[in-house]
Amino acid sequence: MKLLKVNSSILILLFIASSLTAQVYQEKYRPQIHFSAQKGWINDPNGLIFYEGEYHLFYQHNPGHRDWGNMHWGHAVSTDLMHWKELPLALFPDEHGTMFSGGALIDYDNTAGFNKGNTPAMIAIYTADSEEKQVQCMAYSLDKGRTWTKYKGNPLIDSKAKWNSKDTRDPQVFWYAPNKEWVMVLNERDGHSIYTSPDLKAWKYESHTTGFWECPQLFELPVDGNPAYTKWVMYGASGTYMIGRFNGKVFTPETGKFYYTTGGLYAAQTYANIPASDGRRIQIGWGRLETPKEMPFNNLMLIPTVLTLQTTKDGIRLFSNPVKEIDKLQEKGAQWQSLTVQQATDKLKPYAKSDALRIKATLKLSHATDVGLKLAGQNVLVYDLNGNQVNGVFYAPQQLGSMEVSADIFIDRTCFEVFIDGGAYSFSVLRDLKTTNTDGFQFFGHNIEVLNLEVYPLHSIWK
Ligand code: FRU
Repeated sequence: MKLLKVNSSILILLFIASSLTAQVYQEKYRPQIHFSAQKGWINDPNGLIFYEGEYHLFYQHNPGHRDWGNMHWGHAVSTDLMHWKELPLALFPDEHGTMFSGGALIDYDNTAGFNKGNTPAMIAIYTADSEEKQVQCMAYSLDKGRTWTKYKGNPLIDSKAKWNSKDTRDPQVFWYAPNKEWVMVLNERDGHSIYTSPDLKAWKYESHTTGFWECPQLFELPVDGNPAYTKWVMYGASGTYMIGRFNGKVFTPETGKFYYTTGGLYAAQTYANIPASDGRRIQIGWGRLETPKEMPFNNLMLIPTVLTLQTTKDGIRLFSNPVKEIDKLQEKGAQWQSLTVQQATDKLKPYAKSDALRIKATLKLSHATDVGLKLAGQNVLVYDLNGNQVNGVFYAPQQLGSMEVSADIFIDRTCFEVFIDGGAYSFSVLRDLKTTNTDGFQFFGHNIEVLNLEVYPLHSIWK
C-alpha cells in the first residue's frame, strides 16, 4: 500500500513536470523548426560537438532573462539535429569572469591528463570575460557534457598586454594530425591568431590573419567532394570568409573575402568529432532575430546546414544547405510543374495560415526585372534581374547566362530562411508578425514561369 502511494505521488510529479514542459513549448511565438531556449536570452552556439550518438549544442545564455548579460553556457542535446532536449546549465561564471564563447573537443589521447579509465574527457575551451580583460580557459567533463570541472591552471592564455586590447576571445581548438598537436584559432583585436599546443595547457603563438572580428572558425573541406583536393576556409562572426592553405601554423589566404549568407546569421560554429563515415561539416549559426517581447525567451538558432566548397563560374565558393535530417519533419506535400504566377499563388492558398512550412520553387524569367514571393505583403524572396540582387544583396545566378533561380524556403512563426540555387547564397529574416493572419502567399513578376513548385507542411520539433 505504502509503495503504491509513493508510486502515485511520483506519477503525479512526473505528470506535472511533463505538462510544465509541454506548456513551455506551446507559446504563441515559439519557433517551430528552430531551436530556442525554454527561457532567457541566447546568442552564439558554443562547443558544437558530436559524441556517442549525441549532437551537443552549448550556447551563450543569460538564464531567465530576455536580454544579454551574465553569460553562462546553456546546453541542449539532439540525436538528429532537429529535436533538442534542453539540459541543465553547463558552465557558470567564476573568478575569471563570465563564460564567453568557445569550442569543445574530445581528448582521445589524454594529452591533458583528464581522462578516466577508458573515458576520454570532453574539453571545453572558452573565454572568461571580466571588466578588465578576456582570458582563455578550459574545463572538462567525464559524463558527456552534463557536469564540468574547471582546470586549476586557468587561464591558459592572457594576451591583453600583447595586443593592448581587451578583445581577445572565442577560441576554436582542433587536433592538427600532420603536426600531432592542437591548434587554437583565437580572435585577437583585429583578426584571427593561430596558437599551438601539445597538451592544451601550454600554448605558443604562431601567426595572425587580420580582417576578422569575433568567433573564428578554420576548417578543411574537399573541393567538389574530391578528398584529394582540399582547401581551408577561415571565417569570422559575420560569416564573411576567405579560402586558402593551412600548414598547422599559418593560414595563407588565396582569395579575397566573400559572403555566402546575410541577414540574421552571426557567430556560427561547425561541429567537431563528426565520424569520418559521415564526414559532413555541419554548421549552426545564431539567428540574431529578436523574439517578440511578450515571450519569456529571446533569439533562436538557425537551421543546421552542411558547408561544402564548390567550383562555380566565379571560382571556388562556400555553399550552405539545410541538413538532410530536416526532410524528416516534412508531412505529405504536393508538387506541380510549369505554372503561371497566378496558378502558383492559387496552389499555395491552402497553406496561408501554416507556420511551419517548406516551399521549393524554381522560377524562370523572361524579360522580367523583379520576380519573387511575398507573404501577405512581406518579401520572402525578391530576385532583381536588372540589379543582380536577391533581397537587396548582389547575387548573379549560378548558371552562366541562366534565367532561372531556385529557392528552398523555410517559413517559421517568427522568421524565414531561404537557400538560393542549391545553397550558393542564403538569408534569414524576421517574419513580420502581421503576416500570420492574412491570406498568404503571392508570387509576382511578369512573364515568368514557375517551373517547379513543392510545398511541405513541417512537424514542430517540439512534438
Ligand atoms: C559574439 C560575442 C562573442 C562573445 C559572446 C559573448 O556574439 O560577442 O565574441 O564571446 O558573443 O556573449
